[in-house]
Amino acid sequence: MYHEIDLEKINLNSAPPTEEPDRQYYYMAKCREWVKNFQQKNGHLPKSFVVNMGCQMNARDSEKLAGILENMGYEKGDSEEADFVIYNTCTVRENANNKVYGRLGYLHGFKKKNPHMKIALCGCMMQEREVVEKLKKSYSFVDLIFGTHNIYKFAELLWEVLESGSRVIDVWEETDKIVEELPVERKYSFKSGVNIMFGCNNFCSYCIVPYVRGRERSRNPKDIIQEIEKLAEDGVVEIMLLGQNVNSYGKNLEEPISFAGLLEEVHKIQGIERIRFMTSHPKDLSDELIEVMKNSPKVCRHLHLPLQSGSTRILREMNRRYTKDQYLALVEKVRRAMPDISITTDIIVGFPGETEEDFLETLDVVKRVRFDSAFTFIYSKRTGTPAAAMEGQIPEDVVKDRFDRLLKEVQSIAAEKAMEHKGKVLPVLVEGINEQDDSLVTGRLSNNSVVHLPGGKDLIGTIQNVELTECKGFYYMGRIIS
Ligand code: SAH
Ligand code: SF4
Ligand code: F3S
Repeated sequence: MYHEIDLEKINLNSAPPTEEPDRQYYYMAKCREWVKNFQQKNGHLPKSFVVNMGCQMNARDSEKLAGILENMGYEKGDSEEADFVIYNTCTVRENANNKVYGRLGYLHGFKKKNPHMKIALCGCMMQEREVVEKLKKSYSFVDLIFGTHNIYKFAELLWEVLESGSRVIDVWEETDKIVEELPVERKYSFKSGVNIMFGCNNFCSYCIVPYVRGRERSRNPKDIIQEIEKLAEDGVVEIMLLGQNVNSYGKNLEEPISFAGLLEEVHKIQGIERIRFMTSHPKDLSDELIEVMKNSPKVCRHLHLPLQSGSTRILREMNRRYTKDQYLALVEKVRRAMPDISITTDIIVGFPGETEEDFLETLDVVKRVRFDSAFTFIYSKRTGTPAAAMEGQIPEDVVKDRFDRLLKEVQSIAAEKAMEHKGKVLPVLVEGINEQDDSLVTGRLSNNSVVHLPGGKDLIGTIQNVELTECKGFYYMGRIIS
């Protein structure tokens, strides 16, 4: 959903427009002038490099940043040896933050060699006051810092940096605004993420996301549908609807609509063959949604349903608002409607106060549900969240031991589950040339599993019927059945 604005036609002698997104297109045009000057002086275009460090929502934001830079005329670089580098950060766990500080040191090395180089940081980590203080004090070579709420202002902020040559910091506490119609550069031609909502209202007690992403805001269904129609016209066949809790989509809109209702509308769009979504909170997964999924062959047979813990007591402490039994009943209901669905999950070990018995409850759920795959995380203390102040933080060695036991269980079940599909013929969306062997292509099943098969780049973006000839644990080898 791209504003067809010709930057050349924008009058840069007039005052900047006050309306969005026009104001940002004005600043894109300004930056474009700057880029042209740069090229004249240096004999080449400035290179930009966008690094995404977070979840799918951040990845989508990174595509927007890349789209804006492309519109400005920056050449797309493929390493940090560039004239403009931006890190779109994540802060969901402590090690995400440490990675940023480590990488900034490395980046400083490039900046010392390239006097033109500008460094920017944005994303969730920038919404934390202590982070910005630390950056101000010890990382003065960073030129631009902004947060999640004003990411749409990127063009304006970059212009400020380029024009003034000094550091710009602009982080907002909150916003109720959604700015539509900024340019996007998609990483893949045939699939795309589409934001349907921003923020989160759930306040799970361990989680920092509601603090750094703000309150839940749903996009208008009309805007979402238009964006997907445009993507379909551009050749996109698979879309992933994105939100921290898609099941509560639409609740705060003037004319409320359910996520299931939205999914039905998306299903009708011609050209879209596969619909995925992320993430579903178990507490809000409705019967209506199960019904719509079941009746739509376009909705992928994959449900990511974060469990977090199998202990009802810990779930209460986590403020997840479901019990172990409710979770198990939900899985059963989903499987009854769609027996072939793949169910994946997220699990945290070592939440404050977690006893061996609590952990065994988690293992019990894992054994009973038999997840197709699971992301397992060691609890990370996030300052400002209720869990950070809870008593009974678990010693590292105990957590590590539980984590290893959990991982072993999860992996052996996942491998067994994968074996069940061996020999089947299933549709695969081919995504690209295999990274290790260029006589192969790599694609995904509806259930999100990876398949490698002989083929060339003409297959990219197409859906093929593939026989899964071998199962290698977490992926398959296959061949096209014509
Ligand atoms: N909105 C999604 C999750 C977003 S964060 C949901 O509710 O499912 C992705 C995952 O990171 C979470 O599911 C959780 O398992 C993990 N996570 C979040 N905060 C964490 C923390 N403090 N420590 C460890 N893992 C965490
Ligand atoms: Fe975090 Fe919970 Fe919101 Fe997911 S639903 S983003 S885990 S607060
Ligand atoms: Fe990380 Fe922000 Fe996503 S904290 S998980 S990038 S919403």
